[in-house]
Amino acid sequence: MLTLTIGGLLLAAVYYYLTRTFNYWIKRGVKHDKPIPLFGTNAKNFLLCANPVDMAREAYKKYPTEQLVGFFRGTRPELIIRDPELAKRVLTSDFNSFHRRGIVDSSTMEPLQKQQVAADDDLWRQLRLRMTPAFSSGKLKAMFPLIVERAEILQARLKEISNKQQAVDARDLMARFTNDIIGSAGFGVVSDSLNNEEDAMRKLGLKIFSINFTRVINQTLKNLNPKFFGHLKILGNVEKDVIEMVRTVMQQRNYEPSGRHDFIDILLECKKKGAMTGDSIVETNPDGTPKKVSIEMDETIMAAQSFLFFAAGFETSSSVSSYTLHELAHNPHVQEKAQAEIDKVLLKYNNKLCYDAILEMSYLRWCLNEAMRVFPSVGILRRQSVHPYTFPGTKVTIDGGVTVIIPLEAYQNDPKIFPEPQEFRPERFDPDVMTHEQKVAYLPFGGGPRACIGERLGVMQSMAGLAAVLAQYSVRPAGAPRYPTSSPYSGAVNFIKGGLPLIFQERKL
Ligand code: HEM
Ligand SMILES: *[C@@H]1O[C@H](CO)[C@@H](O)[C@H](O)[C@H]1NC(C)=O
Ligand SMILES: *[C@@H]1O[C@H](CO)[C@@H](O)[C@H](O)[C@H]1NC(C)=O
Repeated sequence: MLTLTIGGLLLAAVYYYLTRTFNYWIKRGVKHDKPIPLFGTNAKNFLLCANPVDMAREAYKKYPTEQLVGFFRGTRPELIIRDPELAKRVLTSDFNSFHRRGIVDSSTMEPLQKQQVAADDDLWRQLRLRMTPAFSSGKLKAMFPLIVERAEILQARLKEISNKQQAVDARDLMARFTNDIIGSAGFGVVSDSLNNEEDAMRKLGLKIFSINFTRVINQTLKNLNPKFFGHLKILGNVEKDVIEMVRTVMQQRNYEPSGRHDFIDILLECKKKGAMTGDSIVETNPDGTPKKVSIEMDETIMAAQSFLFFAAGFETSSSVSSYTLHELAHNPHVQEKAQAEIDKVLLKYNNKLCYDAILEMSYLRWCLNEAMRVFPSVGILRRQSVHPYTFPGTKVTIDGGVTVIIPLEAYQNDPKIFPEPQEFRPERFDPDVMTHEQKVAYLPFGGGPRACIGERLGVMQSMAGLAAVLAQYSVRPAGAPRYPTSSPYSGAVNFIKGGLPLIFQERKL
């Protein structure tokens, strides 16, 4: 009898523990699905049947008249922002309440996470300030010959494969192209994964994105209890390789810019400016003034910055360019129009790709924009409140430390905002026809002070690859699903499920 009672009490205690937060959104009058113990409303994601972008889309569709929808990641309350105008507040005007992304706890940060995607608070802010000039158009233009070089190798490679009249996986092709740019422009080493299966950068890239069993375990334990499992690593299998690679290149250059104008040169210039110093955004002195912070630009931080080219620039850029090719294959009239523009611009530049030529290809830019609308590489944005916040025009107040999710993929495919969303129509991006509502809801690079720092680079390298391909080849469908989906194992970054096979046919010019 006694053991039964104790058992019952224990069970009740466990049940209480697993459901203790479940009235969070009821108290605030925010609609949501009924949470279940342990899983909250995130069971499908925890069981790897759906990714976070799928979860956000589902909630977005299910509550069509709400501005805000509640969510529980396990026991943690999160909020999905259905109203793009409220999202804009979070990203821009009320940024000071939402400067955190909240994906990595600073106490458990790994060396390769000392970069802007993962860092928050002063480390994020100081890195952002220091690295912003590194992504300027001047720096990109100086770096661009390295990208053009890779685009020409892409053309040469296609010459070999297209002759065989077989389908080529555009996703794999563009991934290798992007990989080689990352090697050359991001890490300062020449890599050629388009032609060499044993390429070192390719191997590193595959290792970074491999689904490693111990990584999944480490990540799960870390999320479960950061205090207890914080020391476990999720990038443990690549940390040494990345740091070693960056160190070697810097040593070869005697820690002086080499004149190659790649990212390693830029990092070496950045280091010369000394420690990153400024006002804290989180800590104040007793008199209310902000504390001073100073962060050394050390070897680890520099390696973490190069690592970003992989972590933030690889899957994003390669999926955008391959998805654009996929849509062009299904929309031959659009493809012809893009090719006519490419031909016209290149003629002006002696048939040589260069930075200025790519900038002039405005229709190709619309095609890229439209591809990123239908299939954005990053499907949701995250922010975390740093203190209690009331959403303007609502009665909803959240505590500090609550994660909010901006479901941009759902906005961009909502027929109320973008009519006939599955139709690939680059003309939507004509500034004369795009509405204010559409501009607010279109967020493939995020928004506000934490928007993508590599937008210009991502766009220009993707366009260089597309222009190189389309100048000489036309693409036709070859059996990929008309509307590819993303893998259930994806995170915020949409990994296209399966390949995107296409026929590349040499153009008769
Ligand atoms: C087409 C390619 C790309 C797309 C679609 C893309 C998209 C995004 C998105 C949606 C975010 C989150 C923004 C937010 O939370 O508001 C982001 C952040 C970021 N991206 Fe990109 N990205 C691309 C390429 C790149 C490249 C090439 C780099 C650099 C090598 C890069 C570096 C970053 C960094 C550092 C952040 C974090 C910014 C911060 O929190 O301060 N991205 N990107
Ligand atoms: C998981 O954590 C252990 C212990 O820190 C570490 O040795 C291992 O490399 C980690 N796995 C990955 C993939 O980082
Ligand atoms: C996963 O990471 C561990 C620990 O770093 C490593 O020993 C192992 O080889 C990796 N497995 C795969 C499949 O990459």
